[in-house]
Amino acid sequence: GELVEWTGELAPVRSPVCLRRDNGELEQCLIGSTPLLNAEAALGALDSAVRAYDLGQGAWPTMTVSERIRHVEIFLNKMKQQREAVVRLLMWEIGKNLPDSEKEFDRTCDYISDTINALKALDRRSSRFENEQGTLGQIRRVPLGVALCMGPYNYPLNETFTTLIPALIMGNTVVFKPAKFGVLLIRPLLEAFRDSFPPGVINIIYGRGRDTVSALMESGKIDVFAFIGTNKGASDLKKLHPRPHRLRAALGLDAKNPGIVLPEVDLDNAVEECVTGALSFNGQRCTALKILFVHRSQVDDFLARFNDKLATLKAGMPWEPGVKLTPLPEPGKADFLTTMVEDACSKGARVVNEGGGSTVGTFFYPALLYPVSSQMRIYNEEQFGPIIPVVPYDDLDEVIDYIRTSDFGQQASLFGSDPKQMARMIDACANQVGRINLNAQCQRGPDTFPFTGRKNSAEGTLSVHDALRVFSIRTLVATKDNAASKA
Ligand code: G3H
Repeated sequence: GELVEWTGELAPVRSPVCLRRDNGELEQCLIGSTPLLNAEAALGALDSAVRAYDLGQGAWPTMTVSERIRHVEIFLNKMKQQREAVVRLLMWEIGKNLPDSEKEFDRTCDYISDTINALKALDRRSSRFENEQGTLGQIRRVPLGVALCMGPYNYPLNETFTTLIPALIMGNTVVFKPAKFGVLLIRPLLEAFRDSFPPGVINIIYGRGRDTVSALMESGKIDVFAFIGTNKGASDLKKLHPRPHRLRAALGLDAKNPGIVLPEVDLDNAVEECVTGALSFNGQRCTALKILFVHRSQVDDFLARFNDKLATLKAGMPWEPGVKLTPLPEPGKADFLTTMVEDACSKGARVVNEGGGSTVGTFFYPALLYPVSSQMRIYNEEQFGPIIPVVPYDDLDEVIDYIRTSDFGQQASLFGSDPKQMARMIDACANQVGRINLNAQCQRGPDTFPFTGRKNSAEGTLSVHDALRVFSIRTLVATKDNAASKA
């Protein structure tokens, strides 16, 4: 309920955008600083959330749905006034290009409006029922307690808010830690949070996870853990909770979504979708196409067209018109990607496109790798960046085997024009991945659609509608007593 001044340690925030110094060296622009809270300060924020949850009748968890909606609407209106500031920080902090930064902001606002509408519809639905023996039942949907919400750096606004907003609107109180990159862009919204919600309902903390989030989990006072990020991060944190079996989790995790180009295919469309599917925001999307299987009869043509298309993608600064390829925010990322390319090349692959895999500071030019095979790291490991591994195949069983044995199961894209081949692959993928895209790239949207994954890719389902259920539980009030039923 208040903006708290932090007088302790600060960390510099650097942009992926570099300046060239007089001595010719590249240096990442310093764009601000962020507080590094200690465990005590983080636990103070948690106590505030616990107290706000326990305030009793009429407080946030027991408010009427329409009252809570009113608070979220007030926040949404205030948030919309900060569009320019947030969009500018998206570009500077994570290097997302202007159209995608604007889209992330607008999409987040739409998500909030859609959540409000979905809750109104859920609330209108009758939850009363009666059996033949006259027992009356009524379902009441109640919050779970204190939610910890953490989002990833690639969608520091949108992905975080797709858990934060439903958690709040269902009556939970929240501790929210912004992503490591994309940390400044929450600042223009702090006053909107403060002025829209009752004190203690939303508590925003900054700092290193090992100092802050670990303490929150160890306290055992977190009831819902909403985390979009890596598998390792999620499981390390879950283990710290003294009662992990009672912790409700909504997790969006690692993925290695395959794009599968079948022997009969509209190659123009397949290439178009694979290029954007693999390279939007430099491949830093959990839903990006991270490995392409192309039938040997199509592979030469596919590579040539992919290469042509790649050559048209403009590299530059996020705010420059028409730019698609931009600097990468994670320190050391270009080195990691280089290692992946070197590993593949040492085992028989080559970089097909001119300049592919070259780096300048935080910039990594996309590498189209071919032929990729199972001994290479890039075959199984998630690159989360602009490497496009292409695997040639002769028999669909080879691809089916990959999908069946992969540790991940978020989505797959099938490109084909023969209904029999498509149907066979749909059957093969149906119990292995959360979503199958036909002649289209993998993606989360529309956000009203369920977003989930199998195996190590997710826990729980998020969508406008599903999230309302994730962050609440149904309590049944039952009676045979006519008088009591009026209560
Ligand atoms: O990083 C994972 C995001 O949910 C991807 O969303 O498919 O809309 O880019 P998107």
